Amino acid sequence: RKKITIQSLVRLYEKGEPISVLTAHDFPSASVAEAGGMDIVLVGDSLAMVALGMEDTNEVLVEEMLLHCRSVSRAVESAFTIGDLPMGSYEVSPQQAMQTAIRFVKEGRMNGVKLEGGEEMAPIIKRITDAGIPVMAHIGLTPQRQNALGGFRVQGKTTAGALQLLRDALAVQEAGASLIIIEAVPAEVAALVTSKLRVPTIGIGSGNGCSGQVLVQIDMMGNFPPGRFLPKFVKTYANVWNEALQGVERYRDEVKSRAYPSSEYTYPMSEEVIEELRR
Ligand code: KIV
Ligand code: NA
Repeated sequence: RKKITIQSLVRLYEKGEPISVLTAHDFPSASVAEAGGMDIVLVGDSLAMVALGMEDTNEVLVEEMLLHCRSVSRAVESAFTIGDLPMGSYEVSPQQAMQTAIRFVKEGRMNGVKLEGGEEMAPIIKRITDAGIPVMAHIGLTPQRQNALGGFRVQGKTTAGALQLLRDALAVQEAGASLIIIEAVPAEVAALVTSKLRVPTIGIGSGNGCSGQVLVQIDMMGNFPPGRFLPKFVKTYANVWNEALQGVERYRDEVKSRAYPSSEYTYPMSEEVIEELRR
Protein backbone atom coordinates (compact mmCIF):
# COMPACT_ATOMS: atom_id res chain seq x y z
CA ARG A 1 0.00 0.00 0.00
CA LYS A 2 1.05 3.56 -0.67
CA LYS A 3 1.35 6.00 2.22
CA ILE A 4 -2.00 7.67 2.93
CA THR A 5 -1.76 11.44 3.17
CA ILE A 6 -4.19 14.25 3.91
CA GLN A 7 -4.40 14.65 0.12
CA SER A 8 -5.38 11.02 -0.46
CA LEU A 9 -7.97 11.26 2.32
CA VAL A 10 -9.42 14.31 0.57
CA ARG A 11 -9.58 12.28 -2.67
CA LEU A 12 -11.54 9.52 -0.89
CA TYR A 13 -13.89 12.16 0.50
CA GLU A 14 -14.40 13.74 -2.91
CA LYS A 15 -15.09 10.33 -4.47
CA GLY A 16 -17.66 9.66 -1.75
CA GLU A 17 -15.69 6.64 -0.51
CA PRO A 18 -16.08 6.26 3.27
CA ILE A 19 -12.87 6.71 5.27
CA SER A 20 -12.08 3.78 7.59
CA VAL A 21 -10.62 4.65 10.98
CA LEU A 22 -9.71 2.32 13.83
CA THR A 23 -7.94 2.94 17.10
CA ALA A 24 -4.74 1.16 18.07
CA HIS A 25 -2.67 1.43 21.21
CA ASP A 26 0.42 -0.68 20.71
CA PHE A 27 2.50 -2.56 18.14
CA PRO A 28 0.22 -5.61 17.68
CA SER A 29 -3.05 -3.65 17.57
CA ALA A 30 -1.52 -1.20 15.09
CA SER A 31 -0.11 -4.06 12.97
CA VAL A 32 -3.55 -5.61 12.52
CA ALA A 33 -5.14 -2.23 11.74
CA GLU A 34 -2.49 -1.62 9.09
CA ALA A 35 -2.71 -5.15 7.67
CA GLY A 36 -6.51 -4.85 7.57
CA GLY A 37 -6.28 -1.79 5.35
CA MET A 38 -7.41 1.02 7.62
CA ASP A 39 -7.10 4.48 6.08
CA ILE A 40 -6.40 6.11 9.45
CA VAL A 41 -5.03 4.59 12.66
CA LEU A 42 -5.97 6.67 15.69
CA VAL A 43 -4.12 6.42 18.98
CA GLY A 44 -7.17 7.49 21.00
CA ASP A 45 -6.95 8.47 24.63
CA SER A 46 -9.57 5.72 25.11
CA LEU A 47 -6.44 3.60 25.60
CA ALA A 48 -6.48 4.98 29.14
CA MET A 49 -9.50 2.80 29.79
CA VAL A 50 -9.18 -0.13 27.39
CA ALA A 51 -5.42 -0.69 27.58
CA LEU A 52 -4.34 0.83 30.90
CA GLY A 53 -7.43 0.08 33.00
CA MET A 54 -7.89 3.69 34.09
CA GLU A 55 -11.30 4.91 35.21
CA ASP A 56 -11.60 7.55 32.50
CA THR A 57 -9.55 9.17 29.74
CA ASN A 58 -8.68 12.21 31.87
CA GLU A 59 -6.11 10.24 33.83
CA VAL A 60 -3.71 9.52 30.98
CA LEU A 61 -0.55 11.67 30.69
CA VAL A 62 1.13 13.12 27.61
CA GLU A 63 4.22 10.95 28.24
CA GLU A 64 2.04 7.83 28.41
CA MET A 65 0.24 8.74 25.18
CA LEU A 66 3.61 9.35 23.51
CA LEU A 67 4.91 5.88 24.43
CA HIS A 68 1.84 4.32 22.83
CA CYS A 69 2.02 6.61 19.79
CA ARG A 70 5.64 5.60 19.19
CA SER A 71 4.82 1.90 19.37
CA VAL A 72 1.88 2.34 16.98
CA SER A 73 3.97 4.38 14.54
CA ARG A 74 6.51 1.54 14.29
CA ALA A 75 3.81 -0.85 13.07
CA VAL A 76 2.10 1.45 10.59
CA GLU A 77 3.49 1.94 7.11
CA SER A 78 0.63 3.22 4.98
CA ALA A 79 -2.21 4.38 7.20
CA PHE A 80 -2.39 8.03 8.25
CA THR A 81 -1.64 8.18 11.97
CA ILE A 82 -3.33 10.51 14.44
CA GLY A 83 -2.57 10.92 18.15
CA ASP A 84 -5.20 12.10 20.64
CA LEU A 85 -4.09 15.07 22.78
CA PRO A 86 -5.01 14.15 26.35
CA MET A 87 -7.08 16.35 28.63
CA GLY A 88 -5.00 19.21 30.05
CA SER A 89 -2.37 19.21 27.32
CA TYR A 90 -3.91 21.72 24.88
CA GLU A 91 -6.79 23.73 26.41
CA VAL A 92 -4.71 26.34 28.26
CA SER A 93 -3.50 28.30 25.26
CA PRO A 94 -2.67 27.97 21.55
CA GLN A 95 0.99 27.94 22.60
CA GLN A 96 0.50 25.02 24.99
CA ALA A 97 -1.46 23.15 22.33
CA MET A 98 1.25 23.83 19.75
CA GLN A 99 3.98 22.54 22.06
CA THR A 100 2.05 19.35 22.79
CA ALA A 101 1.19 18.82 19.12
CA ILE A 102 4.88 19.13 18.21
CA ARG A 103 5.74 16.46 20.78
CA PHE A 104 3.16 14.14 19.20
CA VAL A 105 4.83 14.58 15.82
CA LYS A 106 8.49 14.52 16.99
CA GLU A 107 8.34 12.02 19.84
CA GLY A 108 5.10 10.18 19.08
CA ARG A 109 5.89 10.03 15.32
CA MET A 110 2.27 10.84 14.47
CA ASN A 111 1.09 12.39 11.19
CA GLY A 112 -1.56 14.51 12.90
CA VAL A 113 -3.28 15.19 16.21
CA LYS A 114 -6.84 15.09 17.51
CA LEU A 115 -8.40 17.32 20.12
CA GLU A 116 -11.86 17.67 21.62
CA GLY A 117 -14.07 20.75 21.41
CA GLY A 118 -15.88 23.03 18.98
CA GLU A 119 -16.11 26.79 18.44
CA GLU A 120 -14.14 27.62 21.58
CA MET A 121 -11.15 25.58 20.33
CA ALA A 122 -10.89 27.45 17.01
CA PRO A 123 -7.83 29.59 17.96
CA ILE A 124 -6.05 26.46 19.19
CA ILE A 125 -6.83 24.49 16.03
CA LYS A 126 -5.68 27.44 13.91
CA ARG A 127 -2.36 27.66 15.74
CA ILE A 128 -1.59 23.96 15.22
CA THR A 129 -2.72 23.79 11.59
CA ASP A 130 -0.86 27.03 10.75
CA ALA A 131 2.31 25.22 11.82
CA GLY A 132 1.59 22.43 9.35
CA ILE A 133 0.29 19.77 11.71
CA PRO A 134 -3.04 18.31 10.52
CA VAL A 135 -5.80 18.44 13.13
CA MET A 136 -8.75 16.11 13.57
CA ALA A 137 -11.40 17.92 15.63
CA HIS A 138 -13.82 15.98 17.86
CA ILE A 139 -17.32 17.33 18.53
CA GLY A 140 -20.63 16.03 19.86
CA LEU A 141 -19.95 13.79 22.83
CA THR A 142 -16.50 14.76 24.07
CA PRO A 143 -15.50 12.25 26.78
CA GLN A 144 -12.83 14.54 28.27
CA ARG A 145 -15.72 16.82 29.32
CA GLN A 146 -17.84 14.07 30.80
CA ASN A 147 -17.95 15.80 34.19
CA ALA A 148 -19.65 18.82 32.62
CA LEU A 149 -21.79 16.82 30.19
CA GLY A 150 -23.13 14.64 33.01
CA GLY A 151 -21.67 11.42 31.63
CA PHE A 152 -21.64 9.79 28.20
CA ARG A 153 -24.86 11.11 26.70
CA VAL A 154 -26.18 11.55 23.20
CA GLN A 155 -25.56 15.10 21.94
CA GLY A 156 -27.32 17.35 19.40
CA LYS A 157 -30.77 15.92 20.12
CA THR A 158 -32.55 19.26 20.59
CA THR A 159 -32.86 22.04 18.01
CA ALA A 160 -30.46 24.16 20.06
CA GLY A 161 -28.07 21.24 20.45
CA ALA A 162 -28.12 20.43 16.73
CA LEU A 163 -27.53 24.07 15.79
CA GLN A 164 -24.63 24.29 18.25
CA LEU A 165 -23.14 21.16 16.70
CA LEU A 166 -23.35 22.76 13.27
CA ARG A 167 -21.71 25.96 14.58
CA ASP A 168 -18.95 23.86 16.16
CA ALA A 169 -18.37 21.94 12.92
CA LEU A 170 -18.21 25.10 10.80
CA ALA A 171 -15.91 26.83 13.30
CA VAL A 172 -13.39 23.98 13.50
CA GLN A 173 -13.46 23.67 9.71
CA GLU A 174 -12.75 27.41 9.35
CA ALA A 175 -9.95 27.09 11.90
CA GLY A 176 -8.28 24.54 9.63
CA ALA A 177 -9.33 21.11 10.91
CA SER A 178 -8.77 18.46 8.21
CA LEU A 179 -11.22 15.95 9.66
CA ILE A 180 -14.03 16.15 12.22
CA ILE A 181 -15.06 13.30 14.52
CA ILE A 182 -18.76 13.46 15.41
CA GLU A 183 -19.52 11.29 18.44
CA ALA A 184 -22.93 10.11 19.70
CA VAL A 185 -25.21 12.35 17.66
CA PRO A 186 -28.48 11.27 15.97
CA ALA A 187 -27.82 10.11 12.40
CA GLU A 188 -29.99 12.81 10.81
CA VAL A 189 -28.10 15.59 12.59
CA ALA A 190 -24.68 14.15 11.74
CA ALA A 191 -25.71 13.73 8.09
CA LEU A 192 -27.00 17.31 7.97
CA VAL A 193 -23.79 18.68 9.48
CA THR A 194 -21.73 16.54 7.06
CA SER A 195 -23.67 17.99 4.11
CA LYS A 196 -22.82 21.55 5.22
CA LEU A 197 -19.06 20.92 5.33
CA ARG A 198 -16.20 20.70 2.84
CA VAL A 199 -14.05 18.48 5.08
CA PRO A 200 -14.79 14.85 5.96
CA THR A 201 -16.67 13.90 9.10
CA ILE A 202 -15.83 10.65 10.88
CA GLY A 203 -18.75 9.25 12.82
CA ILE A 204 -18.81 7.20 15.98
CA GLY A 205 -22.32 6.43 17.13
CA SER A 206 -23.58 9.00 14.62
CA GLY A 207 -25.06 6.94 11.79
CA ASN A 208 -23.89 6.21 8.27
CA GLY A 209 -24.30 9.69 6.81
CA CYS A 210 -20.80 10.69 7.91
CA SER A 211 -17.82 10.65 5.53
CA GLY A 212 -16.21 7.80 7.46
CA GLN A 213 -16.46 5.71 10.61
CA VAL A 214 -14.29 5.05 13.64
CA LEU A 215 -14.49 2.44 16.39
CA VAL A 216 -12.34 1.58 19.38
CA GLN A 217 -10.46 -1.57 18.37
CA ILE A 218 -10.77 -3.41 21.69
CA ASP A 219 -14.55 -2.91 21.50
CA MET A 220 -15.13 -3.98 17.88
CA MET A 221 -12.82 -6.99 18.37
CA GLY A 222 -14.82 -8.21 21.36
CA ASN A 223 -11.55 -8.18 23.30
CA PHE A 224 -13.01 -7.77 26.78
CA PRO A 225 -14.56 -10.03 29.42
CA PRO A 226 -18.26 -10.82 29.05
CA GLY A 227 -20.67 -8.53 30.83
CA ARG A 228 -18.83 -5.28 30.15
CA PHE A 229 -21.03 -2.32 29.19
CA LEU A 230 -20.90 -1.47 25.50
CA PRO A 231 -22.39 1.66 23.92
CA LYS A 232 -25.31 1.01 21.55
CA PHE A 233 -23.25 1.83 18.46
CA VAL A 234 -20.53 -0.79 19.01
CA LYS A 235 -20.75 -3.73 16.65
CA THR A 236 -18.42 -6.59 17.54
CA TYR A 237 -16.72 -8.05 14.46
CA ALA A 238 -14.70 -10.72 16.26
CA ASN A 239 -14.54 -12.47 19.60
CA VAL A 240 -10.92 -12.07 20.52
CA TRP A 241 -11.55 -12.48 24.25
CA ASN A 242 -13.03 -15.98 23.78
CA GLU A 243 -10.22 -17.03 21.49
CA ALA A 244 -7.58 -15.72 23.91
CA LEU A 245 -9.26 -17.22 26.94
CA GLN A 246 -9.43 -20.65 25.30
CA GLY A 247 -5.74 -20.38 24.51
CA VAL A 248 -4.83 -19.54 28.12
CA GLU A 249 -7.00 -22.37 29.46
CA ARG A 250 -5.52 -24.96 27.10
CA TYR A 251 -2.02 -23.82 28.06
CA ARG A 252 -2.88 -24.01 31.77
CA ASP A 253 -4.22 -27.56 31.39
CA GLU A 254 -1.17 -28.70 29.42
CA VAL A 255 1.26 -27.20 31.94
CA LYS A 256 -0.58 -28.89 34.81
CA SER A 257 -0.66 -32.26 32.99
CA ARG A 258 2.91 -31.88 31.65
CA ALA A 259 1.53 -32.35 28.11
CA TYR A 260 3.45 -29.16 27.33
CA PRO A 261 6.28 -29.00 26.41
CA SER A 262 6.30 -32.28 24.49
CA SER A 263 9.54 -33.34 22.75
CA GLU A 264 8.82 -31.32 19.61
CA TYR A 265 9.03 -28.15 21.72
CA THR A 266 12.25 -29.26 23.44
CA TYR A 267 15.92 -28.89 22.37
CA PRO A 268 17.53 -32.23 21.52
CA MET A 269 20.84 -33.43 22.95
CA SER A 270 23.09 -36.29 21.81
CA GLU A 271 22.66 -39.61 23.61
CA GLU A 272 26.43 -39.81 23.96
CA VAL A 273 26.66 -36.63 26.04
CA ILE A 274 23.71 -37.68 28.15
CA GLU A 275 25.46 -41.02 28.85
CA GLU A 276 28.64 -39.19 29.83
CA LEU A 277 26.76 -36.91 32.18
CA ARG A 278 25.14 -39.89 33.86
CA ARG A 279 28.50 -41.49 34.65
O1 KIV B 1 -10.13 7.98 22.25
C1 KIV B 1 -10.68 7.47 21.25
O2 KIV B 1 -10.52 6.28 20.94
C2 KIV B 1 -11.52 8.34 20.43
C3 KIV B 1 -12.29 7.75 19.31
C4 KIV B 1 -13.32 6.81 19.79
C5 KIV B 1 -12.87 8.78 18.43
O3 KIV B 1 -11.57 9.51 20.71
NA1 NA C 1 -10.52 10.18 22.61
